[in-house]
Amino acid sequence: MNPKLGCCYYPEHWPESQWQSDAQRMKDLGLTWVRLAEFAWSRLEPSPDNFEFDWLDRAIETLAEQGLKVVMCTPTATPPRWMLDKHPDMLAVDIEGRPRGFGSRRHYCFSHLAYRQEACRIAEIVADRYANHEAVQAWQLDNEYSCHDTARSYSEAARRGFRNWLSDKYESVGVLNEAWGNIFWSMEYDDFDQIDLPNLTVTEANPSHWLDFYRYSSDQVVAFNKAQADVLRKHTDAPLIHNYMGRIVDFDHYKVGADLDIASWDSYPLGFLVDRLGASEEWQRRFERQGDPDLQAFHHDLYRAVGRGRWWVMEQQPGPVNWAPNNPAPLPGMVRLWTFEAIAHEAEAVCYFRWRQAPFAQEQMHAGLLRPDSQPSAVFPEVEQTSKEIQVLGDVAPAKAEVALIFDYESCWAWETQPQGEAFDEFSLALDFYRALRGLGLTIDVVAPDHDLSQYKLVLIPGLFAWPDNLLQRIESHPGLVFLGPRSGSKTKNFQIPTGLAPSIPGLDVIIAYVESFKAGNERPLSNGGAIKHWCEAIETTEDVIETTVDGAPVLVRKNRLFYLGAWLDSAALGRVLKAACDELGITTTNMPEGIRQRTTASHRFVFNHNAHAHKFEGEELAPAQVKITALD
Ligand code: GAL
Repeated sequence: MNPKLGCCYYPEHWPESQWQSDAQRMKDLGLTWVRLAEFAWSRLEPSPDNFEFDWLDRAIETLAEQGLKVVMCTPTATPPRWMLDKHPDMLAVDIEGRPRGFGSRRHYCFSHLAYRQEACRIAEIVADRYANHEAVQAWQLDNEYSCHDTARSYSEAARRGFRNWLSDKYESVGVLNEAWGNIFWSMEYDDFDQIDLPNLTVTEANPSHWLDFYRYSSDQVVAFNKAQADVLRKHTDAPLIHNYMGRIVDFDHYKVGADLDIASWDSYPLGFLVDRLGASEEWQRRFERQGDPDLQAFHHDLYRAVGRGRWWVMEQQPGPVNWAPNNPAPLPGMVRLWTFEAIAHEAEAVCYFRWRQAPFAQEQMHAGLLRPDSQPSAVFPEVEQTSKEIQVLGDVAPAKAEVALIFDYESCWAWETQPQGEAFDEFSLALDFYRALRGLGLTIDVVAPDHDLSQYKLVLIPGLFAWPDNLLQRIESHPGLVFLGPRSGSKTKNFQIPTGLAPSIPGLDVIIAYVESFKAGNERPLSNGGAIKHWCEAIETTEDVIETTVDGAPVLVRKNRLFYLGAWLDSAALGRVLKAACDELGITTTNMPEGIRQRTTASHRFVFNHNAHAHKFEGEELAPAQVKITALD
């Protein structure tokens, strides 16, 4: 598939006299896609049932005349002010019990069923008007579910919904009491209607209570999305897309993705470095203007899985953003690098956010491809160059990865519920595994736990909290090597310690007697080099011990093709043990220097220098932000 470029455009922000030249310039830049109207509800329906679509008709026409294709959006992330008069209780409520006010965006509660109907109503009206328009060739539903911490709401609607959800799940409150262990602290309930949301308890609420609330909240996002998707499908066969976020795991993206055709995500590498990743001071200084070298790639691979092979970058940072603690400009060359990196990971399209910087409101300090005065912004020539290069790149044929990394949303919620150590977090653990694999130059598939694993030589499961149906059988019959990370199988699905203790794998004589977490700076060295950080498990075993601490405590255990790692390893140790597994399997590895990354597809090899300095790699000097592309025969 030959990748395409696009941009996010807000005709409602600009005088109509500008639209024609905007469209012309987009075309001249070689853009294919223009995303429209995701925040335009107040202009489409200025008052209830009073519609004004003429302006959008004309905007689409103007774009269509230049041969541009439109991603039409449902505007449901920004319900207009009048909606609140209609549904005063539709606001999401924060964890402290405070309603989240009007005056920005995403102020709705996913559990509010009347708002869900309003969302379907406007989706139907927009679809009815534009589904048959030739230029409208894809649809985006809503905008960034969960952005600004909105997947979980502690509203009255959520409380009612949660009680019903629990009653459907457990059928009898006695079963729920048992599953949650409510005998502890006399928390037993007599009726589902007595159960509140887990916020505002005196001290921590029961982790099983939290985990079910997180599951419930995720299901509301899935249901909200599906309701809109069902409406759109009645009108169109064009692909349905949602734009997910970086590092946000509050709902099960695989489940939302199952109701859509393409996954997309919004990539802001510089903003994410601190705001999402909490990178160390040293890392921030080093990659301030390039972003973390593995974070974007991880999301590309994750969202390829969420989209079942089809994915886009819907919003690509083009310059300084406005929302991180500090907002540097990307190093010259980085916007081109990010674009090609997405393409290397098989993106079908990369759209820049946004066409022109807005001179008003919240994001007036956020760069676009044009400045507010319509002059090209600093990045414009770079995007022009990138666009020309993409036109001659040809099709990028999908890679066939030999390594799969399982990423599981429920495990993120489980460890959020009871981290047992300030640094323990599933996303970071998975990212550390991913980094170690990328440090070996590997092409990786990130997959859901129920994905078919048989095609992979090496399967990594960083910290799956409970064993889903079938997975253990599939692991047992897996022909390659399977590598389990710390805390795997350490809970039941109800969040209790399994009877036989972790990791609870029949036939594997490994028992975790207790676990320890500890502070950064107190790393525990391994006898073969590298060290344990954050998390360490006391392993009792009669199986083969592959790695130990310098004190002789078992760290990595093996039985046949299965490895159990009872610790969070630093990059040196993790890289070493994963390399040994690759060597055994005959998977070719390349030692990638820090900041140099590669991905090999069936048609191309892409090498990226994320460093701010030139770097020698394979006998060749790579300039800062350089992308080296080699077509393979
Ligand atoms: C995204 C969002 C856009 C814009 C952008 C700014 O999260 O979808 O609407 O706010 O961030 O970086």
